[in-house]
Amino acid sequence: MTDGPKLLEAAKALLPRAVATYSKFRVAAALEDESGALHPGVNVESASFSLTICAERNALFGALARGATRFRRIAIAADRAKPVLPCGACRQVLLEHAPDLLVVLEAPDGGVEEIPLRDLLPRPFLSWSRPS
Ligand code: THU
Repeated sequence: MTDGPKLLEAAKALLPRAVATYSKFRVAAALEDESGALHPGVNVESASFSLTICAERNALFGALARGATRFRRIAIAADRAKPVLPCGACRQVLLEHAPDLLVVLEAPDGGVEEIPLRDLLPRPFLSWSRPS
């Protein structure tokens, strides 16, 4: 297991891979699974703007495709803002797969903040969508 600051550094190191052609707002995420393995994600934008994928869901989908199923923490970094909190769509999808996830963020003063994902999405829709 890596600590919060190291996970955030891993996310920051991924920022050059972001494809932020239109917004110029690079976002990267490092998702830690229960074995301690890190799964990278960056935002990838499309000329058809609504097809853009956020860094957080990109990390989660890649991790699932690699066979990971249980997750501890996700660190999120951006090149032009701190902290960057996951958007509503990412909160929903992450919670469906990782209800106990901790979100690791860069605080405005450069420190590290860890917030339970549950606190970011109160009363979520999970009634039948939660994978068994
Ligand atoms: N973005 C993310 O990657 N994650 C978020 O949680 C919020 C937004 C991306 C999507 C788009 O490429 C850019 O940031 C501007 O919205």
